[in-house]
Amino acid sequence: MRRAMVKPLRYDDIYSLMQDLLAILPTGSREYELARSLDPARLPAHVGIIMDGNGRWARRRSLPRVAGHRAGVGPVRMAVETCARLGIGSLTLYAFSAENWKRPRSEVETLWRLLHYYLGREVAHLMENNIRLRAIGRIHALPKEVRRELEQAVEATAGNTGLVLNLAINYSGRAEIVDAVNALVREARAAGTLDSLVVDEEAIASRLATAGQPDVDLLIRTSGEMRISNFLLWQIAYAELYVTPILWPDFDRAALLEAIAAYQKRDRRFGGIEPARPAQVEQASFAGVPGSAL
Ligand code: FPP
Repeated sequence: MRRAMVKPLRYDDIYSLMQDLLAILPTGSREYELARSLDPARLPAHVGIIMDGNGRWARRRSLPRVAGHRAGVGPVRMAVETCARLGIGSLTLYAFSAENWKRPRSEVETLWRLLHYYLGREVAHLMENNIRLRAIGRIHALPKEVRRELEQAVEATAGNTGLVLNLAINYSGRAEIVDAVNALVREARAAGTLDSLVVDEEAIASRLATAGQPDVDLLIRTSGEMRISNFLLWQIAYAELYVTPILWPDFDRAALLEAIAAYQKRDRRFGGIEPARPAQVEQASFAGVPGSAL
């Protein structure tokens, strides 16, 4: 699989993207004020989202569970577009876990239909917004038609240079690490170096499905559950966790901006004692950029 190298954006580029975002938000609205409060130099380089609560959203309305999944497509579109407009490098959405096969067959089939609907409608939108789609997870086990569509969308957007959108489908964080280690062993065996193989963190990280992308800085989970659910286990080692009681279908742009604003208030020390910044922004020429929160 080709790597999706994420090049850190310059402050000036992020600043100008943020101005464009402000231009489309209603002046004085909550989302406008939240977007305006963000510091372009401290955006998360990689945001991961565990989209949870679709079933509960439906139950509260006496609707079938699948109605919650359908209502979850809008927030997916919003999150992707907002992250792209903010100049965030990577967004990973947990769309289907390797454990989700345990759900009723009709629910699983609805999820594939929604993915089909999403890909059918969104590829043009991804192209317009310069977004690269990637699929992470054991994609080979998906129904043939779903896999084919996914691969076509990945291929169609491969030349884009903006946000990398990783859709985690049939994904398991443990399986991803196991696959990376097996790849290492296979390569060493093929090279005749198995006896002297020494595994380090870089060797594993560079064989994960997210190789070339920064680690997750901000991990959002909706619906109030305090669980990681086997999501990006390696990449979240130093992520800031943000759990909101909002159910995924109700997760709107203000909720996402609020999560990012909360992230910017965290003191990140990566095990040290001094606050540190994520790798998203090249610490370049931002002196004198008007209106910045610096
Ligand atoms: C968890 O809610 C959600 C999922 C397992 C599926 C996520 C799918 C979508 C948001 C739909 C569209 C996605 C794409 C990428 C087009 P849950 O069913 O576990 O909710 P519950 O915990 O309230 O039952």
